[in-house]
Amino acid sequence: MIKVLFVCLGNICRSPMGEFILKDLVKKEGIENSFEIASCATSSEEIGNPVYYLAKDKLRKHGISCEEKRARKLKQEDGFYYDYILAMDSWNIRDIKRIVNQNSEEKIYRLMDFASNPKDIEDPWYTRDFDTAYKDIEEGCKCFLEYIINNEKNKL
Ligand code: 4NP
Repeated sequence: MIKVLFVCLGNICRSPMGEFILKDLVKKEGIENSFEIASCATSSEEIGNPVYYLAKDKLRKHGISCEEKRARKLKQEDGFYYDYILAMDSWNIRDIKRIVNQNSEEKIYRLMDFASNPKDIEDPWYTRDFDTAYKDIEEGCKCFLEYIINNEKNKL
């Protein structure tokens, strides 16, 4: 079992897109039983709220539902539980390190560091550009999954 936790600031835009895009990808590969995938926030702003409607619309256009998702905050135990903590930007990484135990820090990655063009996923809550956010997150998820398929064969 490979446990993956996507993290962003609010857990209503980028990290839920990551969670549900990756769930869709592993299902299409027929390897969904090897994964536990979730997402959470570094801030408390949106706790308990559903996915922001513009992020939800993007997912829906790709045939992906995220109806049940509610924002939750990252907690220290998540650092022990999950194998991969995938941050959307460098600020997230700084904030995640404040919450998880120091021993969990080696599990923290920036999603787009798995891609050929490493970068932050800009926050569409502020840019209003949900097209670019979706495209980048989808690319990051595909590259992350390729990495897992190549490097974690024994767990699939
Ligand atoms: P996210 O976007 O981190 O991609 O979920 C945000 C959503 C809400 C807020 C910040 C970022 N907020 O401050 O309420």
